Amino acid sequence: MLLAIYSSKLFAQQHMQTEILGNTESINKQGNVLIIKTKEAEARIWVYSPTIIRVGISKEHSADTSFAVIQKPSENLDYTESPDEIVLTTSELKLRISKAPLRFNFYTLDGKVLSEDDARFGVNWQGTRVVNYRKLYKDEKFIGLGEKTGDLNRRGSSYVNWNSDVPDHTPKSDPLYETFPFFVGLHGGLTYGLFFDNTHKSYFDFGATTDDTMSSFGADAGDMNYYFFGAQSVAQIIEDYTWLTGRMEMPPLWSLGYQQCRWSYASAAEVLDIAENLRKDKIPADVMYCDIDYMDHYKIFTWNKETFPNPKAMIDKLKAMDFHLVTIVDPGIKVEPGYKQYDEGVANNYFATYPNGEKFIGSVWPGRCHFPDFFRDDVRKWWGASFTALTKPGVEGFWNDMNEPAAWGQDIPWMVKFGNYYMPEIRNAYGMQMARATYEGTKKILGNKRPFVLTRAAYSGTQRYSAVWTGDNSAYDAHMLLGQRMVNSLGITGMSLVGVDIGGFSGDPTPELMVRWNSLGVYTPMFRNHAAKGTKYREPWRWGKDNEAIIKKDIEQRYRLLPYIYSSYYQSHQTGLPVSRTLAINYTQDTTIFDTKYQNQFLFGDAILVAPVESTRFTEDVYLPAGEWYRQSTGEKFEGGKAISADAPLTDLPVFIKAGAIIPMQNVIQSTNEKGDGILEINVWYGKEANSFVYYEDDGSSYDYQKGAYYKQEISFDPTKNNIVLSAADGSFQSKYDKIKLVLHGFKKDIKVKVDGKRVALTDNGVIFNNDNKIIKVDF
Ligand code: GLC
Repeated sequence: MLLAIYSSKLFAQQHMQTEILGNTESINKQGNVLIIKTKEAEARIWVYSPTIIRVGISKEHSADTSFAVIQKPSENLDYTESPDEIVLTTSELKLRISKAPLRFNFYTLDGKVLSEDDARFGVNWQGTRVVNYRKLYKDEKFIGLGEKTGDLNRRGSSYVNWNSDVPDHTPKSDPLYETFPFFVGLHGGLTYGLFFDNTHKSYFDFGATTDDTMSSFGADAGDMNYYFFGAQSVAQIIEDYTWLTGRMEMPPLWSLGYQQCRWSYASAAEVLDIAENLRKDKIPADVMYCDIDYMDHYKIFTWNKETFPNPKAMIDKLKAMDFHLVTIVDPGIKVEPGYKQYDEGVANNYFATYPNGEKFIGSVWPGRCHFPDFFRDDVRKWWGASFTALTKPGVEGFWNDMNEPAAWGQDIPWMVKFGNYYMPEIRNAYGMQMARATYEGTKKILGNKRPFVLTRAAYSGTQRYSAVWTGDNSAYDAHMLLGQRMVNSLGITGMSLVGVDIGGFSGDPTPELMVRWNSLGVYTPMFRNHAAKGTKYREPWRWGKDNEAIIKKDIEQRYRLLPYIYSSYYQSHQTGLPVSRTLAINYTQDTTIFDTKYQNQFLFGDAILVAPVESTRFTEDVYLPAGEWYRQSTGEKFEGGKAISADAPLTDLPVFIKAGAIIPMQNVIQSTNEKGDGILEINVWYGKEANSFVYYEDDGSSYDYQKGAYYKQEISFDPTKNNIVLSAADGSFQSKYDKIKLVLHGFKKDIKVKVDGKRVALTDNGVIFNNDNKIIKVDF
């Protein structure tokens, strides 16, 4: 009998309960927050802007902190109440809250449905696990979630966020290194965005497991805390999301040049040798890297005395060749009394611990390691200040790796504590906080100079501190295409400065793949060639003379495009719009762009359409969206709204220019330090519609632009008025180009041109004039 009672109790305890958010019991407005209570939980609603509403549903009132969000809610909260519902309205959006049961449904002002809770299941819990089930619309598509494998349209797929070290991941692996719990939903010609701000292990299901009836998102614990975005364009949703979570600063110009990396260049002599070779072969480049072997037994903030005996002398030589050096740092601090960072960390209790206060030890490259608690202010300050070991000899870029955090054996015990947090609560934000510590510390040390920070693990908002790359990819075509999709997807979630290991980290690319991938690298926001230990060397000259010539020509094109690329980063800095843009941003309602055949295509900046092509294919179907397009290499014109079969030899990746495009370029230079010939080449490609472009320039290295030291000029093209107008420049910076060359593409053959009223002759479709900082009008 006793046994029977005992075992039935045990049975009851093992059973899970599902609790579904029930009926409203009270409604209260406190300042700018609306509080609605049910038996199960409390919902709070804030308005952040007319297009952003936050819903926070919580069982217990944990502290309201966010690593991602940098804005505060507005003071506005207008709602009406009836027996059945509460209707909260902004100037752009309507949230109808049904009272019994409590459900949240979003509409446009004119009553069109954007997104509704599933009426049956809404928000529910199983233990601490919380999930929101929402209605799935017949034609609904989903894009976003940042660094995820799979297709552009995420409908029918499910994903997990749990930052992990995944070497040798395949085009199907999930989760990977980064967490961006933000997606955009598209249906019925409408758009909405949703950011689930919760750093626990989280789950997104876009109709994969519910017989195509519901989508859902949730997490192992924490609050159902989401921001709903109701703007009616993907670009505006990205602008709103990056307003909420922050935008990137202007990157150092040098970080946009060609970057040469390898795990590892084993000695100072080898680093210099590679750099010298790039210069000797006249392959433009700006950045050299030191991977982990520059350190003494992988101890962070040390140099190997034998192989890197005089870091300053090495970096001085690199600088004399116009190179910048980036060095890697990992979070694991080697357990070794006498090692400065170990001693300081132990003395000040800077490391993660078990619940009893014992320091946690996990093994990584250096062997047994402690892990700094980057969630603490004092730890971040200490970490940041340690960079003097690298900045003193002249390092300017800081590569943060293994910060998922990775340890051999993967999951570190869940009871490990980072201050007050247990590991599973904040694992997804660890890498971001390390990047933050690195960024804040090096920014302080470098004074007015912009540091370059690169991180492998990330969470929403990381764009404020760092660039990211997509981790350990592999040297095969499907990975190259996947990498491009991930770059495009990261752009939706606010990350603009993004790279992939060009050539593939693991394995050896064929020469064709290397050449093809490098040509795509020209149009990758961060252009870095990197490879794993044990693979063949990857530098441009390792592939035979003919291939080297193609690689060199492509890298030269990158440098030609830098004025356009830098201006595109200015857009990211101002509006959050990424440099690599999935076609879903500009051509959202064109269903063909989601076709898996075309899903890797993207716009690089406003006007350059790039079609990635596998290295084994030499013609490719390319979809040109509505409008007119020119093939960049030949000038051939195409009517959009259809697919074409494009030649795709290894020497000519299919790249198209949108009619009406304005593309500032420069002559080939060997590094961004070089002034070049002083001519800014503004390329205008004729189109039927007016267009304009904001050309942006600053010193490329300091923060003076934040005090007005920039050069900003609007260039507009108007085919109805037959003119091109360059506005007077805004800002106090003097352009480094003293001449402007206007080059006209696709205009009538015998066109006559006047510059400020004076007839001028065209040479090679171009006309040169002085850049005098005043309005220039060109009539044609
Ligand atoms: C990790 C990184 C890779 C790096 C290697 C050695 O695998 O992802 O980029 O080269 O560690 O530091």
